[in-house]
Amino acid sequence: MKIIKEINTLRNFLKEERKKQKTIGFVPTMGFFHQGHLKLIQEAKKNSDVVVVSIFVNPTQFGPNEDFNQYPRDLKKDIELAEKEKVDYLFTPSVQEIYQDDFLTYVNVEELGAKLCGKDRPVHFKGVTTVVAKLFNIVNPDKSFFGEKDAQQLVIIKKMVKDLNFDVEIIGVPTVREEDGLAMSSRNIYLNLKERKAALVLFKSLELAKEKIEKGERNSKVIKNEMEELIKKEKLVNLIYISVSNAENLEELDVLEGKVLIALAAKLRKTRLIDNLFLNIKLTTP
Ligand code: PAF
Repeated sequence: MKIIKEINTLRNFLKEERKKQKTIGFVPTMGFFHQGHLKLIQEAKKNSDVVVVSIFVNPTQFGPNEDFNQYPRDLKKDIELAEKEKVDYLFTPSVQEIYQDDFLTYVNVEELGAKLCGKDRPVHFKGVTTVVAKLFNIVNPDKSFFGEKDAQQLVIIKKMVKDLNFDVEIIGVPTVREEDGLAMSSRNIYLNLKERKAALVLFKSLELAKEKIEKGERNSKVIKNEMEELIKKEKLVNLIYISVSNAENLEELDVLEGKVLIALAAKLRKTRLIDNLFLNIKLTTP
Protein backbone atom coordinates (compact mmCIF):
# COMPACT_ATOMS: atom_id res chain seq x y z
CA MET A 1 0.00 0.00 0.00
CA LYS A 2 1.28 3.44 -0.92
CA ILE A 3 0.66 6.24 1.56
CA ILE A 4 0.55 9.54 -0.26
CA LYS A 5 0.19 13.10 1.04
CA GLU A 6 0.55 15.17 -2.13
CA ILE A 7 -2.11 15.62 -4.80
CA ASN A 8 0.37 15.53 -7.70
CA THR A 9 2.04 12.34 -6.51
CA LEU A 10 -1.32 10.56 -6.25
CA ARG A 11 -2.36 11.86 -9.68
CA ASN A 12 0.86 10.56 -11.26
CA PHE A 13 0.42 7.07 -9.78
CA LEU A 14 -3.23 6.92 -10.86
CA LYS A 15 -2.34 8.08 -14.37
CA GLU A 16 -0.12 5.01 -14.67
CA GLU A 17 -2.91 2.74 -13.37
CA ARG A 18 -5.32 4.17 -15.93
CA LYS A 19 -2.80 3.56 -18.73
CA LYS A 20 -2.96 -0.11 -17.70
CA GLN A 21 -6.78 0.04 -18.13
CA LYS A 22 -7.36 -0.42 -14.39
CA THR A 23 -10.67 0.73 -12.95
CA ILE A 24 -10.42 2.90 -9.85
CA GLY A 25 -12.67 2.56 -6.80
CA PHE A 26 -12.58 5.40 -4.29
CA VAL A 27 -13.63 5.53 -0.63
CA PRO A 28 -13.46 9.03 0.89
CA THR A 29 -13.30 8.95 4.71
CA MET A 30 -12.38 11.06 7.70
CA GLY A 31 -10.48 8.12 9.22
CA PHE A 32 -10.82 6.49 12.66
CA PHE A 33 -11.94 3.35 10.88
CA HIS A 34 -14.69 1.07 12.17
CA GLN A 35 -16.44 -1.88 10.50
CA GLY A 36 -18.57 0.54 8.46
CA HIS A 37 -15.47 1.97 6.75
CA LEU A 38 -14.02 -1.51 6.25
CA LYS A 39 -17.26 -2.59 4.54
CA LEU A 40 -16.95 0.36 2.13
CA ILE A 41 -13.36 -0.65 1.36
CA GLN A 42 -14.38 -4.30 0.86
CA GLU A 43 -17.12 -3.24 -1.57
CA ALA A 44 -14.60 -1.07 -3.43
CA LYS A 45 -12.18 -4.05 -3.63
CA LYS A 46 -14.93 -6.27 -5.04
CA ASN A 47 -15.98 -3.73 -7.65
CA SER A 48 -12.73 -2.18 -8.90
CA ASP A 49 -9.14 -3.09 -9.85
CA VAL A 50 -7.43 -0.39 -7.80
CA VAL A 51 -8.71 1.01 -4.50
CA VAL A 52 -7.95 4.52 -3.28
CA VAL A 53 -8.98 5.51 0.26
CA SER A 54 -8.65 9.08 1.51
CA ILE A 55 -8.37 10.09 5.14
CA PHE A 56 -9.04 13.78 5.61
CA VAL A 57 -10.88 15.41 8.50
CA ASN A 58 -12.44 18.15 6.45
CA PRO A 59 -12.63 21.46 8.35
CA THR A 60 -15.19 23.06 6.04
CA GLN A 61 -17.92 20.57 6.96
CA PHE A 62 -17.76 21.42 10.67
CA GLY A 63 -19.63 24.45 12.03
CA PRO A 64 -17.86 26.91 14.36
CA ASN A 65 -19.16 25.18 17.52
CA GLU A 66 -18.77 21.63 16.28
CA ASP A 67 -16.20 18.93 17.03
CA PHE A 68 -13.50 19.47 14.35
CA ASN A 69 -10.69 19.62 16.92
CA GLN A 70 -12.00 16.74 19.04
CA TYR A 71 -12.96 14.55 16.08
CA PRO A 72 -11.28 11.19 16.79
CA ARG A 73 -8.10 10.48 14.82
CA ASP A 74 -5.80 7.41 14.84
CA LEU A 75 -3.76 7.35 11.65
CA LYS A 76 -1.45 4.57 12.84
CA LYS A 77 -4.33 2.16 13.41
CA ASP A 78 -6.07 3.26 10.20
CA ILE A 79 -2.89 2.47 8.24
CA GLU A 80 -2.78 -1.03 9.77
CA LEU A 81 -6.45 -1.66 8.95
CA ALA A 82 -6.09 -0.31 5.41
CA GLU A 83 -3.05 -2.58 4.86
CA LYS A 84 -5.11 -5.56 6.03
CA GLU A 85 -7.88 -4.70 3.59
CA LYS A 86 -5.29 -4.47 0.80
CA VAL A 87 -5.98 -0.85 -0.07
CA ASP A 88 -3.70 0.20 -2.94
CA TYR A 89 -3.37 3.93 -2.23
CA LEU A 90 -4.05 5.69 1.07
CA PHE A 91 -4.32 9.44 0.49
CA THR A 92 -3.69 11.44 3.69
CA PRO A 93 -3.36 15.10 2.65
CA SER A 94 -2.86 17.99 5.07
CA VAL A 95 -5.45 20.76 5.37
CA GLN A 96 -3.00 23.06 3.53
CA GLU A 97 -2.71 20.59 0.63
CA ILE A 98 -6.51 20.61 0.14
CA TYR A 99 -7.32 24.23 1.04
CA GLN A 100 -4.65 26.72 0.10
CA ASP A 101 -4.73 30.11 1.80
CA ASP A 102 -6.44 31.79 -1.15
CA PHE A 103 -9.19 29.13 -1.46
CA LEU A 104 -12.52 30.67 -2.58
CA THR A 105 -14.63 28.12 -4.48
CA TYR A 106 -17.42 26.03 -2.92
CA VAL A 107 -19.89 23.50 -4.29
CA ASN A 108 -23.38 23.69 -2.82
CA VAL A 109 -26.37 21.46 -3.61
CA GLU A 110 -28.77 24.26 -2.74
CA GLU A 111 -32.09 23.01 -1.29
CA LEU A 112 -31.12 19.47 -0.36
CA GLY A 113 -28.36 20.70 1.92
CA ALA A 114 -30.79 22.88 3.90
CA LYS A 115 -33.18 20.05 4.83
CA LEU A 116 -32.98 17.50 7.70
CA CYS A 117 -29.46 17.76 9.21
CA GLY A 118 -28.90 21.00 7.26
CA LYS A 119 -31.31 22.79 9.61
CA ASP A 120 -29.02 22.58 12.62
CA ARG A 121 -25.79 22.10 10.61
CA PRO A 122 -26.14 24.92 8.04
CA VAL A 123 -22.61 24.75 6.60
CA HIS A 124 -22.13 21.00 6.79
CA PHE A 125 -23.22 19.75 3.37
CA LYS A 126 -21.57 22.63 1.51
CA GLY A 127 -18.31 21.52 3.11
CA VAL A 128 -18.98 17.87 2.24
CA THR A 129 -19.82 18.52 -1.42
CA THR A 130 -16.88 20.89 -1.81
CA VAL A 131 -14.34 18.41 -0.49
CA VAL A 132 -15.89 15.44 -2.30
CA ALA A 133 -15.87 17.40 -5.58
CA LYS A 134 -12.20 18.24 -5.00
CA LEU A 135 -11.37 14.61 -4.16
CA PHE A 136 -13.22 13.40 -7.28
CA ASN A 137 -11.15 15.84 -9.37
CA ILE A 138 -7.95 14.55 -7.75
CA VAL A 139 -8.70 10.81 -7.90
CA ASN A 140 -10.97 10.72 -10.97
CA PRO A 141 -12.52 7.41 -9.84
CA ASP A 142 -14.81 5.12 -11.86
CA LYS A 143 -16.82 4.30 -8.75
CA SER A 144 -17.07 5.85 -5.31
CA PHE A 145 -18.53 4.25 -2.20
CA PHE A 146 -20.57 5.97 0.53
CA GLY A 147 -22.37 4.57 3.59
CA GLU A 148 -26.17 4.64 3.74
CA LYS A 149 -25.72 5.62 7.40
CA ASP A 150 -25.14 9.19 6.11
CA ALA A 151 -28.31 9.02 4.05
CA GLN A 152 -28.66 12.73 3.32
CA GLN A 153 -25.00 12.93 2.34
CA LEU A 154 -25.52 10.05 -0.10
CA VAL A 155 -28.59 11.70 -1.67
CA ILE A 156 -26.74 15.02 -1.98
CA ILE A 157 -23.59 13.49 -3.50
CA LYS A 158 -25.70 11.65 -6.09
CA LYS A 159 -27.42 14.93 -6.97
CA MET A 160 -24.10 16.78 -7.22
CA VAL A 161 -22.71 14.08 -9.53
CA LYS A 162 -25.81 14.30 -11.74
CA ASP A 163 -26.00 18.10 -11.78
CA LEU A 164 -22.27 18.68 -12.40
CA ASN A 165 -21.76 15.70 -14.76
CA PHE A 166 -19.06 14.00 -12.74
CA ASP A 167 -18.11 10.81 -14.55
CA VAL A 168 -18.33 8.55 -11.50
CA GLU A 169 -20.81 5.94 -10.31
CA ILE A 170 -21.93 6.48 -6.71
CA ILE A 171 -22.56 3.29 -4.78
CA GLY A 172 -24.45 3.31 -1.47
CA VAL A 173 -23.41 0.64 1.03
CA PRO A 174 -25.84 -0.53 3.78
CA THR A 175 -25.23 0.65 7.35
CA VAL A 176 -23.09 -1.61 9.54
CA ARG A 177 -24.47 -1.99 13.07
CA GLU A 178 -23.16 -3.11 16.44
CA GLU A 179 -24.58 -6.44 17.64
CA ASP A 180 -27.42 -4.69 19.50
CA GLY A 181 -28.33 -2.53 16.48
CA LEU A 182 -26.61 0.80 17.15
CA ALA A 183 -25.33 2.21 13.86
CA MET A 184 -21.53 2.28 13.76
CA SER A 185 -20.12 5.79 13.88
CA SER A 186 -16.77 7.31 14.75
CA ARG A 187 -18.67 9.55 17.18
CA ASN A 188 -19.92 6.55 19.25
CA ILE A 189 -16.58 6.80 21.06
CA TYR A 190 -17.80 10.00 22.77
CA LEU A 191 -20.64 8.10 24.53
CA ASN A 192 -20.29 7.00 28.15
CA LEU A 193 -21.86 3.69 29.20
CA LYS A 194 -25.25 5.18 30.14
CA GLU A 195 -25.42 7.21 26.94
CA ARG A 196 -24.36 4.21 24.85
CA LYS A 197 -27.29 2.24 26.34
CA ALA A 198 -29.73 5.11 25.86
CA ALA A 199 -28.60 5.66 22.24
CA LEU A 200 -30.03 2.29 21.28
CA VAL A 201 -33.52 3.81 21.38
CA LEU A 202 -32.74 5.48 18.04
CA PHE A 203 -32.40 2.12 16.29
CA LYS A 204 -35.39 0.78 18.26
CA SER A 205 -37.55 3.67 17.05
CA LEU A 206 -36.66 2.82 13.45
CA GLU A 207 -37.49 -0.82 14.11
CA LEU A 208 -40.83 0.28 15.53
CA ALA A 209 -41.53 2.36 12.41
CA LYS A 210 -40.68 -0.64 10.22
CA GLU A 211 -43.02 -2.86 12.22
CA LYS A 212 -45.89 -0.35 11.92
CA ILE A 213 -45.32 -0.03 8.18
CA GLU A 214 -45.23 -3.80 7.76
CA LYS A 215 -48.61 -3.91 9.51
CA GLY A 216 -49.98 -1.43 6.97
CA GLU A 217 -49.51 2.03 8.54
CA ARG A 218 -48.88 4.66 5.85
CA ASN A 219 -49.55 7.91 7.71
CA SER A 220 -46.22 9.61 8.37
CA LYS A 221 -47.59 11.67 11.31
CA VAL A 222 -48.65 8.50 13.12
CA ILE A 223 -45.25 6.89 12.53
CA LYS A 224 -43.33 9.99 13.64
CA ASN A 225 -45.46 10.28 16.80
CA GLU A 226 -44.90 6.66 17.77
CA MET A 227 -41.15 7.03 17.24
CA GLU A 228 -41.06 10.26 19.21
CA GLU A 229 -42.99 8.76 22.13
CA LEU A 230 -40.50 5.90 22.35
CA ILE A 231 -37.45 8.17 22.12
CA LYS A 232 -38.86 10.54 24.78
CA LYS A 233 -38.68 7.68 27.31
CA GLU A 234 -34.87 7.95 27.24
CA LYS A 235 -34.13 11.11 29.20
CA LEU A 236 -30.51 11.26 27.98
CA VAL A 237 -31.61 11.48 24.36
CA ASN A 238 -32.54 14.90 22.94
CA LEU A 239 -34.30 14.41 19.66
CA ILE A 240 -33.35 16.95 16.96
CA TYR A 241 -35.66 15.70 14.22
CA ILE A 242 -37.50 12.76 12.72
CA SER A 243 -38.10 13.04 9.00
CA VAL A 244 -40.16 10.87 6.67
CA SER A 245 -39.27 11.91 3.14
CA ASN A 246 -39.00 10.91 -0.48
CA ALA A 247 -35.60 9.18 -0.63
CA GLU A 248 -34.59 10.97 -3.83
CA ASN A 249 -35.52 14.62 -3.23
CA LEU A 250 -35.94 14.62 0.59
CA GLU A 251 -39.42 16.22 0.31
CA GLU A 252 -41.43 15.46 3.46
CA LEU A 253 -44.24 12.95 2.89
CA ASP A 254 -47.72 12.82 4.46
CA VAL A 255 -48.35 9.36 3.08
CA LEU A 256 -45.61 6.77 2.76
CA GLU A 257 -45.25 5.49 -0.78
CA GLY A 258 -42.39 4.51 -3.08
CA LYS A 259 -38.78 5.10 -2.07
CA VAL A 260 -38.96 6.46 1.45
CA LEU A 261 -36.26 7.62 3.84
CA ILE A 262 -37.02 7.67 7.56
CA ALA A 263 -34.19 9.62 9.14
CA LEU A 264 -33.49 11.04 12.57
CA ALA A 265 -30.88 12.95 14.50
CA ALA A 266 -30.45 13.27 18.25
CA LYS A 267 -27.99 14.62 20.76
CA LEU A 268 -26.73 12.81 23.84
CA ARG A 269 -24.99 15.53 25.81
CA LYS A 270 -22.63 16.87 23.10
CA THR A 271 -22.68 13.80 20.87
CA ARG A 272 -24.80 14.18 17.77
CA LEU A 273 -25.96 10.86 16.31
CA ILE A 274 -27.94 10.05 13.17
CA ASP A 275 -29.62 6.93 11.90
CA ASN A 276 -32.11 6.02 9.18
CA LEU A 277 -34.03 3.47 7.25
CA PHE A 278 -34.45 3.28 3.46
CA LEU A 279 -37.72 1.58 2.43
CA ASN A 280 -39.57 0.77 -0.76
CA ILE A 281 -43.26 0.99 0.07
CA LYS A 282 -46.35 0.00 -1.84
CA LEU A 283 -49.47 1.97 -0.99
CA THR A 284 -51.97 -0.43 0.67
CA THR A 285 -55.38 -0.36 -0.97
CA PRO A 286 -58.28 -0.29 1.50
O1 PAF B 1 -18.70 10.67 5.37
C1 PAF B 1 -17.61 11.19 5.63
O2 PAF B 1 -16.77 10.62 6.31
C2 PAF B 1 -17.30 12.59 5.11
O3 PAF B 1 -18.43 13.39 5.14
C3 PAF B 1 -16.65 12.58 3.71
C4 PAF B 1 -17.58 12.00 2.66
C5 PAF B 1 -15.37 11.79 3.75
C6 PAF B 1 -16.32 14.01 3.29
O4 PAF B 1 -15.44 14.62 4.16
